[in-house]
Amino acid sequence: MTQKTKKFRSSHWYGKLDRDGFIHRSWMKSQGFPDHVFDGRPVIGICNSASELNPCNVHLWEVAEAVKRGVWEAGGFPLEFPTMSLGETQMRPTAMLFRNLMSMDVEESIRAYPIDGVVLLGGCDKTTPAQIMGAASVNLPSLVISGGPMLNGKYQGKDLGSGTDVWRLSEAVRAGEMSAQDFFAAEGCMSRSHGHCNTMGTASTMTNLSEAMGLQLTGSAAIPAVDARRYQSAHRAGQRIVEMVYEELNILKIITRKSLENTIRVNAAIGGSTNVVVHLLAIAGRAGIPLTLADFDTLTRDVPLLVNLQPSGQYLMEDFFYAGGLPAVIEELGDLLHRDALTITGKTLGENVKGAKIYNDEVIFSRTKPLNQHGSTVVLTGNLCPQGAVIKRSAASEHLLTHRGPAYVFETIEELKAKIDDPDLPVTSDSILVLKNCGPKGYPGMPEVGNMPIPKKLLQQGSTDMVRISDARMSGTAYGTVVLHISPEAAVGGPLALVKTGDMISLDVQKRSLQLEVTDKELASRRASWQPLDLGFKRGYVKLYIDHVTQADQGADLDFLVGSSGDVVKRESH
Ligand code: FES
Repeated sequence: MTQKTKKFRSSHWYGKLDRDGFIHRSWMKSQGFPDHVFDGRPVIGICNSASELNPCNVHLWEVAEAVKRGVWEAGGFPLEFPTMSLGETQMRPTAMLFRNLMSMDVEESIRAYPIDGVVLLGGCDKTTPAQIMGAASVNLPSLVISGGPMLNGKYQGKDLGSGTDVWRLSEAVRAGEMSAQDFFAAEGCMSRSHGHCNTMGTASTMTNLSEAMGLQLTGSAAIPAVDARRYQSAHRAGQRIVEMVYEELNILKIITRKSLENTIRVNAAIGGSTNVVVHLLAIAGRAGIPLTLADFDTLTRDVPLLVNLQPSGQYLMEDFFYAGGLPAVIEELGDLLHRDALTITGKTLGENVKGAKIYNDEVIFSRTKPLNQHGSTVVLTGNLCPQGAVIKRSAASEHLLTHRGPAYVFETIEELKAKIDDPDLPVTSDSILVLKNCGPKGYPGMPEVGNMPIPKKLLQQGSTDMVRISDARMSGTAYGTVVLHISPEAAVGGPLALVKTGDMISLDVQKRSLQLEVTDKELASRRASWQPLDLGFKRGYVKLYIDHVTQADQGADLDFLVGSSGDVVKRESH
C-alpha cells in the first residue's frame, strides 16, 4: 500500500473531521505543528527514558533529536514522550522493584496515544527490558535505540570498568591495600562521559541482546554514547521506524522463539549478565512465547565464551566496539544461531551481519580458539532450589565450581552488613555464605546484593572468592562464585528459608546441582515452626508488587501483566 492510501492507527485521532478530531489536532497545533503534518502520515512515538536522576540515560534528549530528523526525513511525524526512568545507582530500595511499573507506564502510554510506531530510548539496566516488555504488550512496530556505553574509565594509567572496579577497589580498601583518598579519586575517573556502564554488565548485555533479538539496528549497541556514529544510527533508526509502520513490521514479528533462542546463545558468548535471565523470561511472557529457566542451560551448553570483557574478562565496551562489536560475534557464532530470524531491518540476522569481521582477537575470540569453552550462565537445581537457581560460570573461580562446605546464614541484608567485618565471624574460606529474604517479594524487588562482600578477616588472609548463595540478583558487573535467583525464595517459604548456620551445602556446577545436606524429616520439622517476615508494606505500588510478583524462574513480572492487550482502545477520549 502506498503512503497516500494507507490508513494508520493515528487516523482514529487526527483523521476525523468531527469535534473530536478538532480537539485532537487543535491542541497539538499549539506546539506550532502546521496543518499538513496531520495529513495521515505515520505518527512515531519516541519513548524517552531520559532523566537527570538517571545519569546513564540523560543524553537521550539529544539522541531523540537525531531520531526526529530521521522520522521527518522519511515522511513521519515524530512526537517524543517521557516515561518513568530507573536510575540504577540512585533508586532505593532497588531499581528492579520498579521495572514492572515502568513497563506499565510504557505500555499504557503507547496504547493511549495516537502512535503508529515506537522508538524506545533506553540504556540503564532496567530501562531496556521495561521498554521491550511494555512495547511487546501493545505490539506496534517498535525498535530500540540504546544510549550507548560510557568511554573507558582511566585511572593511574589503567582502564577502570564501571561497577566491576568498584567491587575490586572497595575490597582493596577493606583489605587495607588501597587508601580512602585513592578510592575517592577513582570516582571521577571511572564515569567520565555520558552513557551506561562500560563493562558487560546488565546495561551493555541488554542493549547488545536487543540487537541480537533483532530490535536494534545492526552494529549500533556498542557505539560509545559520545561517538557521532550513535547519532547517525539514531537518525537512521528514525527513518527505519517509518518504513516499519508501512511494512506493518510489528514487534511480535521480531520477538519469536527463534529470536529469543538467539538472544540466550549470544548472551552466553558475550559473557552477559545473569540479570537477563529474569528479563528475557519476562519478555517471553509478554510475547506469549513459552520459555523456561532450563532453556537457558540447554541452549548454552555448546556456546563458547568469545568476548573478553569485564567482569568475565579484561576489556571494556569501547574496546568491544573497535574490535567489531556484536556483528562480529554473531557472524563468528555461525550455525549456533538461527540466521533466518527476522529483524527490524526487514532482513534476517544472518543477512545483517554477513561479512562482519573481528578486528582485535584479544577482545573478540574465535570459535576455534575461544576465551572459554563454556558459556556464561548455568542453571542449577536441587533440594535447595526446587524451581532453579543460576550461577555465572564465566565469572566464578574454577576451584570453587565443585565445593562442599558449612553454611553461615544471614537472615537479612542488614544482619550481613552488621556482621561481615566482625573479626570474630566464625567463617573460613570453605564456608558458604547464605543470604535470605532478598528475592522478589522478600526485599522487595530482588536487589543486586547476591555478590556478598568477602568477610574482612578472610580478605586480610588473602581470600578473594568464596561460595555465596541467595535469592537475590547480582549486578551484571559483579563476579565471583555466586549462586543467585534461588526459587522459590525464602520469603515464600522456599527451602532457603530453612537453612541454618552449620548445615552442609554442596555445589557441583558440572552436575548442575545445589544440595542442602539436611534430612527431609529435619526440614519438615523446621518448616513447621517457620514464620515469614512482616515487611510492613500495606499500600501503594509496593503492596501491589508484593501481592502479584512472580518468582525469579518466571521472570519476576506481575502476574496480571503477562501477555498482551494489543493496541486497540475502543472508546474515544473524554
Ligand atoms: Fe546505569 Fe550501570 S548504572 S547502566
